[in-house]
Amino acid sequence: MELTRNLLVLMCIGVACVVHSTAQICPYKAETCQCAGDFVECSGLRDIPPVITGTNVTRIKTASFVRGNITTVTKNSLPQGLQELYFSNQPLVQIDNNSLDNSADSLYFIEITQANLTALPAALLKLTNLSILYIDGSPIQKLDLAVLQHIGIKLTELHLKNVGITGNVDWLSNFSVLRILDLSENNRIIVPDTFLSSVRSTLRELSLASVGLTALPPGLLSLDNLDKLDLSGNKMNSSEINKLLAIPSLSKLSSLSLNSVGLEHTFNFSSLKNLTTLDLENNNISNPNEGLLPPSLSSLSLAANNLTSIATVVLGLTNLYRLDLSHNQITTIPNATFANLTRLTKLYLNNNPIKTISARGFSGLVSLDYFYIGFTNLTEIPVALSDLSNPTLHINIEGIPALSCPCQRSQELDTWFSKHNSSLFFTGYCSSSQSLDRYFVQGCIIPSETTTTVPISSTKGTGNAPVLEISSSCTFVSLLLFLSQIFAGLY
Ligand SMILES: *[C@@H]1O[C@H](CO)[C@@H](O)[C@H](O)[C@H]1NC(C)=O
Ligand SMILES: *[C@@H]1O[C@H](CO)[C@@H](O)[C@H](O)[C@H]1NC(C)=O
Ligand SMILES: *[C@@H]1O[C@H](CO)[C@@H](O)[C@H](O)[C@H]1NC(C)=O
Ligand SMILES: *[C@@H]1O[C@H](CO)[C@@H](O)[C@H](O)[C@H]1NC(C)=O
Ligand SMILES: *[C@@H]1O[C@H](CO)[C@@H](O)[C@H](O)[C@H]1NC(C)=O
Ligand SMILES: *[C@@H]1O[C@H](CO)[C@@H](O)[C@H](O)[C@H]1NC(C)=O
Ligand SMILES: *[C@@H]1O[C@H](CO)[C@@H](O)[C@H](O)[C@H]1NC(C)=O
Ligand SMILES: *[C@@H]1O[C@H](CO)[C@@H](O)[C@H](O)[C@H]1NC(C)=O
Ligand SMILES: *[C@@H]1O[C@H](CO)[C@@H](O)[C@H](O)[C@H]1NC(C)=O
Ligand SMILES: *[C@@H]1O[C@H](CO)[C@@H](O)[C@H](O)[C@H]1NC(C)=O
Ligand SMILES: *[C@@H]1O[C@H](CO)[C@@H](O)[C@H](O)[C@H]1NC(C)=O
Ligand SMILES: *[C@@H]1O[C@H](CO)[C@@H](O)[C@H](O)[C@H]1NC(C)=O
Repeated sequence: MELTRNLLVLMCIGVACVVHSTAQICPYKAETCQCAGDFVECSGLRDIPPVITGTNVTRIKTASFVRGNITTVTKNSLPQGLQELYFSNQPLVQIDNNSLDNSADSLYFIEITQANLTALPAALLKLTNLSILYIDGSPIQKLDLAVLQHIGIKLTELHLKNVGITGNVDWLSNFSVLRILDLSENNRIIVPDTFLSSVRSTLRELSLASVGLTALPPGLLSLDNLDKLDLSGNKMNSSEINKLLAIPSLSKLSSLSLNSVGLEHTFNFSSLKNLTTLDLENNNISNPNEGLLPPSLSSLSLAANNLTSIATVVLGLTNLYRLDLSHNQITTIPNATFANLTRLTKLYLNNNPIKTISARGFSGLVSLDYFYIGFTNLTEIPVALSDLSNPTLHINIEGIPALSCPCQRSQELDTWFSKHNSSLFFTGYCSSSQSLDRYFVQGCIIPSETTTTVPISSTKGTGNAPVLEISSSCTFVSLLLFLSQIFAGLY
């Protein structure tokens, strides 16, 4: 969420620089505050500077304070009529009761991350339009009931992540229109079943990650429209997992996270008929021949388990576009392993003791555009790569000190490389310290004369990686120019 927003800010700042807009004045005069469109972003502040008002001051709808040392928010320190307010990584201790008054009817989104608040701000009591509250990381511990009851009436999205609350969260009964609830990283939370049944048809996303569950909240059974469920970081035994998978309404679920829950095998997930994303990372799954996964899956992570070969159930998932098998114990990739995964675009096999890859080990991976196979026990560049036929392709083979890059390269790899030319690039180094990009373009380094290279094939383009960098930054500049023309046209 924050990342996209920051990108937008950056882009608009870029546009604003090019356009040199009108006689508008930014509401904050600080050097590190920048206005763009209807938002202002300030970084690295110790205090919020005095807010400038007046007819020529830009109307701001979004104010964002990032990475600074702001501790207090006082009356009239914010522009009026704000709709969105962000405090990211500020050690806030105090938000004055009247500090949000001038945005009381408009403010609908507040995000506070890594703060030092010890209470929910009573200033929230004045807000009439708040629908999303996001607090991540603050030692709040005790929540004020009056504030909860007030915001509960309208809130559709509540994130209280890592805020030190514990035990029964009975106050949730006042939140009757919630669509998204995230109480992750609070210790031993007990969600009342009465609440879950009261939001049975509205609740779409629920995260109870790392809240110390050992059993499923029975109220889960009543959620009719749940789309995303995150139960990561709660150690649950097999019978609880089986109970979860038997909940009939979960057949609508599109995303399930069971990261670090202590799974010892792949269960039968086939009841989750609409599941597209499944996270089974950081468990202890070791048997590659058990379990069932729904064919609807498009993104699957089995990273950081104990698989010694690729789980067979994975290899029939023809809709997969992302597969993460990193940090397992896989040693070999036989011919045609991925033959059915023709839609796969991202594959992670890094940090496995992979030693042998059969010549046709990657056949079928015709859509792959990112392949991470670094930190493995390979000793040479696998010929199997030559089956990767997607026109643009980034292969990461970093972290293999013993990777030999022979001057006599296989004909198959050569042909493959010249076919891709400049749309193929590598991350990683040969044992000679030559980068793989250079090795493919320029040929091997003669061991005795480390400054000269021996060309292997004359049909290749030169310097593919730098060319890509230049062209992508050019694209960015021309995008800015293009946007600025649109803006100029508007004024
Ligand atoms: C915030 O305070 C800390 C400790 O006083 C200091 O190290 C840091 O540089 C300050 N950051 C900013 C952005 O002022
Ligand atoms: C606002 O801008 C106009 C036009 O640029 C200017 O004439 C006027 O003095 C400005 N008013 C203030 C209060 O700065
Ligand atoms: C802020 O509001 C709360 C709740 O209404 C109240 O208990 C508190 O005394 C107020 N604080 C100040 C400084 O007025
Ligand atoms: C209230 O919030 C909604 C979004 O939830 C927003 O579209 C609307 O403009 C806000 N009202 C005012 C007066 O800003
Ligand atoms: C905020 O909390 C951090 C960590 O608990 C602490 O180191 C820091 O001194 C606190 N800052 C303020 C302003 O209270
Ligand atoms: C909040 O919930 C409590 C207990 O269910 C109820 O008595 C109270 O009326 C509710 N408050 C609001 C504002 O809905
Ligand atoms: C699994 O965990 C639940 C909840 O903690 C417990 O009631 C049940 O007895 C456990 N089952 C087994 C087989 O350990
Ligand atoms: C299944 O998911 C798709 C989108 O991924 C959605 O349009 C459809 O309504 C879902 N089906 C059910 C039964 O929930
Ligand atoms: C991984 O599986 C092997 C057996 O295949 C077992 O001996 C080992 O203890 C497992 N490792 C972990 C961390 O559970
Ligand atoms: C690929 O699909 C075919 C036909 O469904 C099946 O026979 C074959 O076993 C699958 N291959 C793998 C590696 O799963
Ligand atoms: C893999 O396929 C290649 C080419 O078809 C063949 O030469 C090789 O023997 C096969 N490897 C295994 C282990 O079957
Ligand atoms: C892979 O390499 C690591 C370190 O380089 C080594 O400890 C490990 O035994 C190797 N594994 C296999 C299966 O060769």
